[in-house]
Amino acid sequence: MSRIKEDYLVRGVNEIITRGAPVKPKCCDAAANDEDKSGVVVDFSSPNIAKEMHVGHLRSTIIGEAVCRILEYSGKNVERVNHVGDWGTQFGMLIQYLKEEYPHFHEDIPNITDLTAFYKNAKSRFDESAEFKKISQLNVVKLQAGDEECRKIWQVLCDVSRMEFEKVYARLDISVKECGESFYNDKIAPVIDEFDSRGMISVEEGGAKCVFVPNFKIPLMLQKSDGGYGYDSTDMAAIKYRLNELKARQIVYITDFTQGDHFQMVFAAAKKIGWVDDDSHRLDHIGFGTVQGEDGKRFKTRSGDTVRLVDLLDEAVSRMDTSLRERNSGSESKGGNVSEDEIHKTACAMGYGAVKYFDLRRNPTSNYIFSYDRMLDTKGNTAIYLLYAHARLESIISKGKADFGVDVDALISDGKSKIALSHKSERNLGLHLEFFADTIEETLNDLYPYHICDFVYALSIAASEFVTQCKVLGSPEMESRLLLCRATAITMRQCFDLLGIRHVMRI
Ligand code: ARG
Repeated sequence: MSRIKEDYLVRGVNEIITRGAPVKPKCCDAAANDEDKSGVVVDFSSPNIAKEMHVGHLRSTIIGEAVCRILEYSGKNVERVNHVGDWGTQFGMLIQYLKEEYPHFHEDIPNITDLTAFYKNAKSRFDESAEFKKISQLNVVKLQAGDEECRKIWQVLCDVSRMEFEKVYARLDISVKECGESFYNDKIAPVIDEFDSRGMISVEEGGAKCVFVPNFKIPLMLQKSDGGYGYDSTDMAAIKYRLNELKARQIVYITDFTQGDHFQMVFAAAKKIGWVDDDSHRLDHIGFGTVQGEDGKRFKTRSGDTVRLVDLLDEAVSRMDTSLRERNSGSESKGGNVSEDEIHKTACAMGYGAVKYFDLRRNPTSNYIFSYDRMLDTKGNTAIYLLYAHARLESIISKGKADFGVDVDALISDGKSKIALSHKSERNLGLHLEFFADTIEETLNDLYPYHICDFVYALSIAASEFVTQCKVLGSPEMESRLLLCRATAITMRQCFDLLGIRHVMRI
C-alpha cells in the first residue's frame, strides 16, 4: 500500500475520533439538506388485538425498528406506524363471548392469557353454533356503527392487548405509534366512491365490490357482499391517508412474505388511480420468512402452543445471566466484582441483542431455525461475539489510562493525536473503517439491515486480528494504537445503534 493510501486512511480514522462518529455517506447529507422533508412511513410490528403477539410479529418489530433507525440516520423524517389489527371480524364473537361469559369484565379486567382462552372458546362456539355466529356477525356491524356497549367491550380488549404489546416494546427499545385498522373505518367509503367514480370497480355476483390490477388474476376486495370491509379495504384507505395526509414519499411495509401479493396489489391499485407515481414515490414491502423450531417445524412450545414473546425474551436473558455469572465467578479472584444490577443490565443488553442480531444478520426473506445456543454463542457471527469484541477494545483503552497514563479522550480533545497505520493489520482495520459509508448506502437501497451486520462482523474480525498481532499497551505505538481502538469502538457502537442493539462498555 502506498503512502498516499495510508494518509487517506489516517484521515478517515482521525475524522471518526474527532467527530465522535463515523463519517456519513453523501446520500445522507443530501437527504438531510433536502428542502422537502416529506417523510417515510414505516408500517411495522402490527400485531392483532386479542391475540398473542407471535414470533412473526417479533420479526416485523425487530426489522422495522432497524429500518426506521437507518432511515432516520440518513436524515429522513420517519413516521413509525403500528397498524394493529383492532377491527376484524374476530371482535364480533369476542364481544358476544364476553357478554355471555364474562359480564363483570369492567371490575375484573381480564389479562392477556384470559383473552387468549376467550379467543379459543369464542372461536369454537362460532364454528359450532349458527345462532352464536349470527349474533357475532351482528356485533361487528354494531361495533362499526358505534354501538356503545360493543365499543366498551372492544375498548377493554384493546387496552389489555396494548399493555402486553407495550411490555415487549419497552424491553426491546422499540418506538412505534399505534394507528390501527379502526382509524380508517370512516375513510373507506370515500375511497370506494373514488374508485367507483373512475369506473374502476367491478361488482361480483354476490355484490362484492372489487378492483382488478394488472398481472393479478384475483382482485382486491374493497367491500364484501355483506357490505362489510376487510383487510384490503383498510389498506387502500390507509395508503391514501399516508400519501395525502401524511405526505409520505416512501412507504415501507414489513410483514411475513405470504402477504407479498396483497401489497403488490395495493401498490398497483394506488398507481392505477393516480395516487402514486414512480418518479416521486417509493413503495416497499419487506416480506420475511418463517421462524422454525429446532425440529424444523413452526416455532412452538413443547406442548404445541404458540411461544409467548415475553417468555422467549425472558429465556434469552436468563441464559445470558447464567453465562455471565459463570464467567464472573471465574474472575472474582482477579478482582472482578460486578454488581447485581450491572449483571442484569448486561444480560438484558446481550440477551435481547442476541435475539435481534440473529434475525437481522440474514436476508429477511430466508426462514431460520430459532436456537438459543446458536444466538448466544460467544464465537461466530453473533451479537455476543460482537459485544465482547467491542468491550475488549474499550477495556484496552481503560487499561491504557489506568496502567500507562495514556488518556485517549485527552489526546483527542488536545488535538495531539498522531496516528500511523504502518503494520499490515493496522492498515487493514483502517481500510475496513472506510467501508462504513458504502454499507449505509447499500442498506438504504434495499433496506436490508444485514449489510450492517456483515460490516460490523468483518470490522470486529479485523479489530481482533489487529489486537492480537500488534502490541498495544506499553508499545512505542501505544497512543496511535489506542486511538485506532477508539475509532473502531465508535464505529461499532454506531452499527449497534442502527440495529437497535444496546452496547456495554465492559463485560
Ligand atoms: N396485523 C397484520 C398481521 O398480523 C399485519 C398488518 C400489516 N400492515 C398492514 N398495513 N396491512 O399479519
